[in-house]
Amino acid sequence: MKIKNICCIGAGYVGGPTMAVIANKCPSLRVNVVDVNQDRIKLWNDPNFDNLPIYEPGLAELVKKSRNRNLFFSLDIDKAIDESEIIFIAVNTPTKTEGIGKGMAADLKYVELCARRIAKVARTNKIVVEKSTLPVRTAKAIQSILDETGNGVKFEVLSNPEFLAEGTAINDLFKSDRVLIGSKQTKEGLKAADTLLQIYKNWIPEHKIILTNVWSSELSKLVSNAFLAQRISSINSISALCEKTEADIDEVSIAVGKDSRIGPKFLKSSVGFGGSCFQKDILNLVYLSKSYGLDEVAEYWHQVIKINDFQKNRFSNKIISELYNTVNDKKICFYGWAFKKNTNDTRESAAIYVADRLLDDGAIIHVYDPQVSKKKIINDMKTLWEFRNYSDNRINKLLENLVIHDNYNDPVVKSHAVVILTEWDEFKNYNWNKIFSVMKRPSFIFDGRNILDKNTLSKIGFKVYQLGK
Ligand code: NAD
Ligand code: UGA
Repeated sequence: MKIKNICCIGAGYVGGPTMAVIANKCPSLRVNVVDVNQDRIKLWNDPNFDNLPIYEPGLAELVKKSRNRNLFFSLDIDKAIDESEIIFIAVNTPTKTEGIGKGMAADLKYVELCARRIAKVARTNKIVVEKSTLPVRTAKAIQSILDETGNGVKFEVLSNPEFLAEGTAINDLFKSDRVLIGSKQTKEGLKAADTLLQIYKNWIPEHKIILTNVWSSELSKLVSNAFLAQRISSINSISALCEKTEADIDEVSIAVGKDSRIGPKFLKSSVGFGGSCFQKDILNLVYLSKSYGLDEVAEYWHQVIKINDFQKNRFSNKIISELYNTVNDKKICFYGWAFKKNTNDTRESAAIYVADRLLDDGAIIHVYDPQVSKKKIINDMKTLWEFRNYSDNRINKLLENLVIHDNYNDPVVKSHAVVILTEWDEFKNYNWNKIFSVMKRPSFIFDGRNILDKNTLSKIGFKVYQLGK
């Protein structure tokens, strides 16, 4: 099949960047990115490229090159489905908040809505690609909806999970470690997989494109995230042990990572991993294992999440205990809110949970993040508290103690402590002498990312806490 038009349903952190890269590498393809979210689509089409809905290094330049040439952002989902030979589904798959599997299973309602819409609209054969991260065997449900509710046309469902990381998405997409395509092992299934492979071959060397059956592909995505998160929880658990034994977590990390069988990546101790996926995907894996009666497997992976929660709590408690067991009415400066550097994404950011703990103890938190808006920070906290059924009165009271700044100078003035929550490079280059001069004494730094130089700061006069030191 000669592919001329493709579309992607879901213009988020995955849909936007992946389609921008495909449009860029395949100039003869017309790429439509569609979404139900009007605000998002409006921002993708904003004449000012600084206003794109996602901050990702290199993305604006890429969109600038292709937008309205062969890359289009639109709300017209039906037209995009109708015109496309390949339809990617890249909608969100959050953890369920109610019903069976609440708090664990992935909520597939958006994926199902997409499948129903494709079935309703499609008048020609289509290849439907799962780009969202899904529980293993979801392709079967999608295939069934397409076949049962469609207009008699043929659908081939492929699994093509995305492995990009935010903050490095464009580079990850240009130079992927691998591209994974899962298909039915039938003649039609393999043909569909080959059709998708031909698109990737425009820039990914063929030996990096892995073809598997659908279930291996779906499961490999969950397992990849689980392995990555497991490394972080492993090193974070050891950071607690380092603090008891005078071992240094960064030294341990280097020593362990030098073993080529282990490798150095994803061994950086932190206040805890965040992001929209690690927790969600591991909980999904735990739920899946449990539902197949594999309780030991479920419990093994659940520990990764438990250690992550332990680390966030441990860090928050350390701040309170070092500040003489009370943060009540104390001004505390937060540098960073995003879940990692080089993104404006705050989903499941550790900062949210540390702020929650300190605000609950009466602290007055002043935040600066180079990319995260005031609206987003307030919304993060409100969402958490509304989920816990806090009253409006209680939420408004807590929010009075959360102040957001658009510069890094104001939040430190007369503060008792600076807390580093995100590893933004600019924090390393701040004038820490000047910061010290405007803070209350004693002046504390809690470095939840181990990015600052402890010796230099101690010489200035700071009392410095770093993880695993
Ligand atoms: P996102 O929330 O940023 O984007 C999803 C978009 O889908 C939203 O804009 C939403 O409005 C839209 N949407 C939802 N239902 C829709 C419908 N029925 N019709 C049209 N549009 C609809 O999510 P994301 O971060 O891009 O993640 C998408 C999927 O990719 C998830 O399954 C996630 O696990 C996976 N993933 C994410 C990343 C990442 O770095 N964020 C990386 C790899 C995989
Ligand atoms: C992660 C995976 O890295 C991607 O491969 C995957 O596609 C994606 O999830 C997904 O499925 O959504 P992402 O969450 O964007 O990507 O970012 P990571 O770089 O993995 O960082 C996740 C969290 O772990 C961040 O909070 C980061 O600060 C933290 N982290 C990372 C550490 O604490 N220590 C490390 O050594 C590495």
